[in-house]
Amino acid sequence: MSATLYYEDAVDLLDADHKLVQKLFLDYQGLCDDGGSSKAKQKLALKICQDLTVHTQIEEEIFYPRVRAAIEDDALMDEALQEHAEAKEAIARLQGMAPTDDGYDDTVKQLFATVMDHVMDEREQVFLKARYSTADLRGMVPELHARKKELQAAAPAPAPAGRKKGSS
Ligand SMILES: [Fe+2]
Ligand SMILES: [Fe+2]
Repeated sequence: MSATLYYEDAVDLLDADHKLVQKLFLDYQGLCDDGGSSKAKQKLALKICQDLTVHTQIEEEIFYPRVRAAIEDDALMDEALQEHAEAKEAIARLQGMAPTDDGYDDTVKQLFATVMDHVMDEREQVFLKARYSTADLRGMVPELHARKKELQAAAPAPAPAGRKKGSS
């Protein structure tokens, strides 16, 4: 059975990404609470950045254009793209930091808040409208899945940015 068949439709696949990244953010919070090492925190933060980058890209390449065409609510889709732009800025900021920098944890927290606001907007508006539209949400699953795998394979292993441990 193809892995793509596990997902009911495109919304189901995309929301599974949301749940996974939410879990990773909570894991990060756990590392903060337990005094986790900065190396472990950075590894997780960079994984979050990479997952979010792949997720927003498959939305922008495949899901958004087709939903936009089907729901005829350009303002909503423009707002979603604007939220993506804000998330990308926060991701770039985090990727440019060293985990020992002041404000690293706060930057992760800020990204979490930005992403969860956007996820709520997707769930309550974009996904809802998409499901009541003529967009072929089931038909998009194999394409979204394949593109996701392709981007994950192409993405370099998260490389720590900023100062490296041991090099002063
Ligand atoms: Fe999104
Ligand atoms: Fe999303």
